[in-house]
Amino acid sequence: MTDTVFSPAFGNKPGTLVGRDLSMKCLTDGLSVPAGNRERARLIIGQRGMGKTVLLLELAEYAKKHNYIVASPTVVSGDMLERILEKLERDGKRVLPHARTKVTGGTVGLLGFSAGIQTETQQEPTRSFAYRLLDFCEKAGEAGKGVLILVDEVQANHEELKRLIIAYQEMVGEGQNIAIVFAGLPAAVSKTLNQHFLTFFNRAAKLYLEPISETEISIYYRKCFDELGIDISDDWIGKAAEATEGSPYMMQLAGHYITVSAAEDGTLSERAFRQAISSAKKDFITDICETTLSPLSEKDIEFLHAMAEDKKESAVRDIGARLSAEPAYVQRYKTRLSQAGIISQSRRGYVEYAVPYLKDYFRNEKE
Ligand SMILES: Nc1ncnc2c1ncn2[C@@H]1O[C@H](COP(=O)(O)OP(=O)(O)OP(=O)(O)O)[C@@H](O)[C@H]1O
Ligand SMILES: [Mg+2]
Repeated sequence: MTDTVFSPAFGNKPGTLVGRDLSMKCLTDGLSVPAGNRERARLIIGQRGMGKTVLLLELAEYAKKHNYIVASPTVVSGDMLERILEKLERDGKRVLPHARTKVTGGTVGLLGFSAGIQTETQQEPTRSFAYRLLDFCEKAGEAGKGVLILVDEVQANHEELKRLIIAYQEMVGEGQNIAIVFAGLPAAVSKTLNQHFLTFFNRAAKLYLEPISETEISIYYRKCFDELGIDISDDWIGKAAEATEGSPYMMQLAGHYITVSAAEDGTLSERAFRQAISSAKKDFITDICETTLSPLSEKDIEFLHAMAEDKKESAVRDIGARLSAEPAYVQRYKTRLSQAGIISQSRRGYVEYAVPYLKDYFRNEKE
């Protein structure tokens, strides 16, 4: 069958946002607390495919309808600050149709206060990002609007990120109606948090994206497959939901493969179902597991390899024995990998993989 429902791709807004009501509520509540409040600055933390970008996009849509001018998600990069101003200016046109909101580029005589002296074509030295942002916030404030900045793929040690945070703090100091939401991988965020100058992130309200519950995924699947006219039992829906391990990306992949594996009349054979789940797993391992592992060191990988032979959790002392390593060494790697959100402590002295299908990945490698 043709798939008109599922969308296994990164950074696209799904038709239905599954299992994130509470997360959305946290984010939207943050927009209604008074300016300067701690909840006005948020940090979304989640592994690959957990829906960070999707949440930023949903929040952008909500905020636009609730009195905010929004800089849609901007990836941390060399020209991030300019991009943010451009996006604000662009969205500003929607609600400030008559105001002269131009804040990008090197000309600054366009902001009203120097009217009559300067013209649109006049070049002036480039003002700082903070200056132009303040100017925009003031214009927005005069029109009764707040300003929301969304930043995706936070990277440790990025100069532009530091400048953005400093500017945000200045806006707060100036009493501007501004909010900011960052999203990043646990590894990137934990590195960022260690930097002295970014104590800001320590104080920002954090939102951890946990796996979505199997029940919510099953309910969603039932609705989608009924809509598509696919004849699938509750038992198989349960199996498919279980196979997602709570990952929204895996949920989209499995849903997609099941749909395209169904016959035109909506029937689904057991063989087609099994094949669909196995194709979804394969894609997930390539897209999520391999990209999660690629920035890790050889020693990190050795640690993760040493966990593969255990059924569920691994005793930290067994890992040490398998690696013939001292406890302090094992502890160091355990901490690193936990901070990166790749393993988690299941109980005292025991760890398990925190990314779906990592065990399968390492077991297959061993074969
Ligand atoms: N709550 C959700 N409901 C339905 N689909 C979702 C949800 N969250 C994410 N998805 C889907 O999962 C996939 C991954 O989402 P997204 O790109 O937001 O992840 P991410 O956390 O930003 O990943 P990365 O770290 O790789 O950038 C997309 O196909 C998206 O449509
Ligand atoms: Mg993303």
